[in-house]
Order: sequence, then structure tokens, then C-alpha cells
Amino acid sequence: MLRNRQALIPYLLLVSAMIGGVLWYESEKVPGLGRVVSTGQADVGGPFRLTGQDGKSVTDQDFRGRYMLIYFGYSFCPDVCPTTLSVMAQALEKIGGRSRQVAPIFITIDPERDTPKVLDDYMKAFGPSFVGLTGSVDEIKAVEKKYRVYAVKKPLEGGNYGMDHSSVIYLMGPDGKLVSFYDEAISPDDLAKELKQKI
Ligand code: NI
Repeated sequence: MLRNRQALIPYLLLVSAMIGGVLWYESEKVPGLGRVVSTGQADVGGPFRLTGQDGKSVTDQDFRGRYMLIYFGYSFCPDVCPTTLSVMAQALEKIGGRSRQVAPIFITIDPERDTPKVLDDYMKAFGPSFVGLTGSVDEIKAVEKKYRVYAVKKPLEGGNYGMDHSSVIYLMGPDGKLVSFYDEAISPDDLAKELKQKI
């Protein structure tokens, strides 16, 4: 991730969507009935059909019944992406056997360079349970939109490019709905604590 202020915008939108979801949830309390109609959902996430490291099609349905811990980034990222994936790996290690309930998923925002083969090699650095997903430019754009991800190419000297992108870890429930999300700066201990509480 190349840091700039613009990259914060989708994060703030995400926060307001979450707050919006919470407020809506609150307003669904039916007076007099003494119960909560639990239909409140932040509008973040949704179905996807992408391509796995083995070149086969992978959909969100494949993870139903487990939690998805999703991070969007790109394998050529020099700093934040590998650091954040490593935080996810350490947190999962800290929760021991319960980590089997969680699928750590990396979705590339740079599908032109992150082919299944590139992702297959890249994910090995973080552990055998990590799933790397890519797709066509349009498929990736569609999933970015659903998760409110900000990602744009930034030309670098020498004709290469980096990606300027938001950096958020999403925890999606066994039903595929958003449970919570975390800033990239979360520590492995804090993420482990969160996972223990929420799964
Ligand atoms: Ni990055």
C-alpha cells in the first residue's frame, strides 16, 4: 500500500456503513414486543466468484459454515500487505485449533500480475491454510465494490506500477455476512483476542 489520504476515504465510508447498520439494527427493536428483530446488516461484502491458486473457480459459497478472514492487497506490495497477512497468520496460530473455523483469504487488487501461479507461491509464505484469489479485471472490480475497497494503479519510475489501496481485514461470518473489520495496524494479539470473542 502506498499511503495517502485518499486511501482513508473508503475506510471511513466503511465505518459509516457499519455505524449505519448498527443504528438501523437499533431502530428495528420493536417497542412493546420486547425483542429484537435482528435484520440489521451493514452493506459490506456479498457473493463472489473468483479463481483460486489452482486455477479453479472459487465462490463465497465454498466457505459457508466457516468464517472468512479477508484481506485485499497485491503480492508485489513491498510493505503493508505482507505485514498484514503475517498478522493474520500469527493471530490464527494464537487461537490454536479454533483457527480451523476460519479461512484466511487474500483477494488480489492487481489481477494483471497476480495470476493463480503467482498467488500460489506468495500464499506459501503465510501458511497452508491461506487462500489466494484472483480473477479478471472486471471480476476483481466487482468484488472491490462490494467490500468498498479503494485500489488504483500508481505508475512507478521505470515503467512499473504500485497499487494505492485501502487496507482492511474483514471478518465474515459462517453465513457470509460481515461480523467485524479491523485496521491493518491491529496487533496479532488483539486480532487473536477478537477472533476468540467472535467465533
Ligand atoms: Ni499493500
